[in-house]
Amino acid sequence: MNLILLGAPGAGKGTQAEKICEKLSIPAISTGNILREAIANKTEMGLKAKSFIDAGKLVPDEVVIGIINDRLKEDDCKNGFILDGFPRTIPQAEALDRMDVHIDRVIDIEVPDEKIASRLSGRRVCLKCGATYHTEFKQPKVEGVCDVCGDVLVQRKDDMPETVLDRLATYHEQTEPLKDFYSEKGILRIVEGQQEVADTTALTFKALED
Ligand code: AP5
Ligand code: MG
Repeated sequence: MNLILLGAPGAGKGTQAEKICEKLSIPAISTGNILREAIANKTEMGLKAKSFIDAGKLVPDEVVIGIINDRLKEDDCKNGFILDGFPRTIPQAEALDRMDVHIDRVIDIEVPDEKIASRLSGRRVCLKCGATYHTEFKQPKVEGVCDVCGDVLVQRKDDMPETVLDRLATYHEQTEPLKDFYSEKGILRIVEGQQEVADTTALTFKALED
């Protein structure tokens, strides 16, 4: 199954992508994680992306379209994939249409803006493997250490409250129009994401079946 996860920053795309990945054994591809890895490795792409991410803006379309075009050609995508954070603009969605892939479902995880700030301020991430935690809602077994790979957990720079407001504005302006784009294709399903993680997961799995 080929899936797209849509939703505001902090809606829980990464969290649900992990659950679907476990259930269906298909890779979760997060453009945010790929870009953060490039920044950590100080690659040319990372250096280019950093100022956009730190300002809560989107990285230019051609950069992320190139990332996804290459990634979807890898062997592990043959039986399906989950796109977490791509597409995020209409031109990105149109570029995906031109790639040789069929999208089965688009799950939009809906969480009101007021709930987003506390989720993001408490988030801690592993820059090595991309696993996500929360100081209140999803604590690692050992404080500050990733359960999956043992690396140190950090707070994302763009999770600071002032940048979160910019990210939300960017989302409403540039990404939300994708709901209509995919609704018109008949493949959009809306999932209520403001209850506990397990509730959202149950709704997400249901939305994959209907
Ligand atoms: P990216 O990393 O994709 O950030 P984002 O879309 O802003 O989404 P987040 O990762 O913040 O949220 P999420 O929905 O994954 O939530 P999570 O599951 O972690 O992108 C970062 C930046 O990269 C962008 O701003 C942009 O600059 C650039 N970029 C990336 N893709 C791009 C593209 N295609 N085009 C252009 N630029 C691009 O959950 C959040 C927290 O809440 C966690 O701590 C989690 O544990 C907790 N949580 C989750 N669900 C629940 C729940 N139900 N109850 C309580 N807590 C919960
Ligand atoms: Mg994420």
